[in-house]
Amino acid sequence: MKILVTGAAGLVGAEVCARLIKNNHQVYGLVHHVRTLTANSGRPVTGVDLIPGDVTQPRLGLDDATWRKLADEVDLIVHSAAITDFGRPRELYQAVNTTGTAHVLELAGFKNARLIHVSTAYVCGEQDGRILETSLDAGQRFGNHYEESKFQAELLVRKAATEATVIRPSVVVGAARTGVVREFKNIYVVLKLLSEGRVTSIPGHFDACVDLVPVDHVAALIADVVEKPAPGQTLHAVGSTVSMRHLSDVLAEYPSFRVPRYVAPATFSAASLGDLERAYWERMLSLYESYFRRRQHFDDTLAAGFRSHKRLSNGPDQLRKIVDYAVRAGYLGSPLPGVAEALAGVGVR
Ligand SMILES: NC(=O)c1ccc[n+]([C@@H]2O[C@H](COP(=O)([O-])OP(=O)(O)OC[C@H]3O[C@@H](n4cnc5c(N)ncnc54)[C@H](OP(=O)(O)O)[C@@H]3O)[C@@H](O)[C@H]2O)c1
Repeated sequence: MKILVTGAAGLVGAEVCARLIKNNHQVYGLVHHVRTLTANSGRPVTGVDLIPGDVTQPRLGLDDATWRKLADEVDLIVHSAAITDFGRPRELYQAVNTTGTAHVLELAGFKNARLIHVSTAYVCGEQDGRILETSLDAGQRFGNHYEESKFQAELLVRKAATEATVIRPSVVVGAARTGVVREFKNIYVVLKLLSEGRVTSIPGHFDACVDLVPVDHVAALIADVVEKPAPGQTLHAVGSTVSMRHLSDVLAEYPSFRVPRYVAPATFSAASLGDLERAYWERMLSLYESYFRRRQHFDDTLAAGFRSHKRLSNGPDQLRKIVDYAVRAGYLGSPLPGVAEALAGVGVR
């Protein structure tokens, strides 16, 4: 097949491209600022025809000839491009994640190319409880502009392309076996701020939970759906549930790490924090605030119909694996001093 992958240089996009090339497809990769493809392992991904473009622009910012060629030739589009970091202006999420999806739908609609749309499990917003793959608009409130923009994109997909498959990853983390991750973003930033004690108390609940999914599992499911179409279906690409209690317990296993204290959200007041801690809270950790309160479990009945989908039973083990790798890579923690260094530190020579 001839397949266009948007966001091809991204964490998920590059892993998807590598699998599609391996499966002998002809792959076009829409790239934006970053114009090289690096797999999660750090190795280059070769064999992809790279096409610079911008999903915020009509016809993806492509010249007429390139747009026409893609519209004529492409059998399938994997739409993975998005703004994924938190704390950016609402207009940017709307332009890239929502309007960008409308532009991709226009290309897909030209000759009825298949579409696999990469969304997020968190389009469910702040609803608690069991979240079904079949559920989309439940009048939910969103935790941030990212979630809202991805929800609106899914609405557009369901309206314009009833046969599209929507894949909803949860929080994408390092590889399942090794914990290796190409870059430390989102949850890794949270782990860093908490384990270094930059923020010591957070408003949340011990039984709140997030779902972590290894990047290789997400890419494998997408590559699987390329081969085994699932028209009209939505699949939760989820991994394992990690509660805030698990988070504290796992951080406590590392001698140099600090462990956050949870306070009832109703009594938390950022104003009572010291200047530095308040700055870390307000500028960084508060972007993730609602995730410390949510009690969500993602049902994956439809995803389970795919061989590549692997539900991981042990959340703490998966968390340990990604923390171990972040420590090995030097992102988290600092090595404990040797005896000589420790004695020198307290004035003993
Ligand atoms: N990472 C997660 O935890 C997670 C969780 C759930 C769902 N998802 C979804 O999975 C998909 C892939 O995420 P990811 O983790 O691979 O994100 P990522 O590493 O941030 O990659 C996103 C890609 O989109 C590209 N992009 C951004 N703005 C663009 C524009 N205007 N035009 C064209 N391309 C643009 C970026 O290119 P430049 O960097 O060059 O601008 C980047 O290559 C996204 O749809 C995301 O919403 C991710």
